Amino acid sequence: MTSQSAVEPILTQKDGGVAVLTLNRPEALNALNHPLMDRLEAALKSFAKDDSVRCLILTGGPKVFAAGADIKEMENAAAKDMAADPHLSRWDMLGKFPKPVIAAVAGYALGGGCELALACDLIIASETAVFGQPEILIGVIPGAGGTVRLAERLGKARAMELILTGRRVNAKEALALGLVNRVVPPEGLLEEAMALAQNVASMPPLAARAAKASLLHALNAGQNDALAFERRLFYDLFDTQDQKEGMKAFVEKRKPRWTGK
Ligand code: CAA
Repeated sequence: MTSQSAVEPILTQKDGGVAVLTLNRPEALNALNHPLMDRLEAALKSFAKDDSVRCLILTGGPKVFAAGADIKEMENAAAKDMAADPHLSRWDMLGKFPKPVIAAVAGYALGGGCELALACDLIIASETAVFGQPEILIGVIPGAGGTVRLAERLGKARAMELILTGRRVNAKEALALGLVNRVVPPEGLLEEAMALAQNVASMPPLAARAAKASLLHALNAGQNDALAFERRLFYDLFDTQDQKEGMKAFVEKRKPRWTGK
């Protein structure tokens, strides 16, 4: 990690099969600077390898999710500096994380903060959440996947409007737009995210990974390719113990016991 701060910019904790990553730079509204994203990358790498972790929650805590990439870091950069910097690839790393990821969003999720939530698979929003891609208001465009992932969730017209105007949307509108999965009262945010994460973590992990891989692949592939990919993953699961156990348990009318094998 390259942080010069004594404070950890990402806090991690594990609860059963769920790992919680909390962005922790409150003095800058969790602006996503290099030390923070370095630490996020390291945590993602570690949790990807850790078989006891079956689902991630990414949150900024009860006040703010993240107010974007750090403008003060980028202010004086030239195009070649930005292009040579792997910073923005961390958003893609999150988007490609092999296990399901849930964003628990309270307060601002703007710019790169919104893009971080969009890179997650599911988004639970507090009633206080505010989403937006305000990059155009500071002379740029979303650079961490916003034009791609917002359009994926909202469709072209609605994404175009938000990106061209930088307009912010509150949690209620975000739900109506299909940007988030559900909206909950502020005090229930982490509890709701944890309940969903525990539910996902209780699923057979190889099937959960295959489901995510197939859905992500489908978003980038033609239909024939996507259907073939899905079928291959479906067939592959028939070589797992969890498939045998799941179907046997159904026939024997009992709960399955997953081994992750
Ligand atoms: N980068 C760096 N610092 C930021 C920041 C950001 N994105 N957002 C907030 N901060 C800092 C502020 O500079 C301020 O620090 P100081 O106290 O040292 O001045 C502190 O956080 C608190 O912020 P405000 O005083 O501005 O708080 P506010 O409540 O008045 O306003 C806000 C909150 C509306 C979120 C406002 O801070 C804001 O507009 N932030 C920038 C949002 C933005 O444009 N995000 C996009 C960034 S570019 C990007 O993300 C590119 C990409 O696609 C990857």
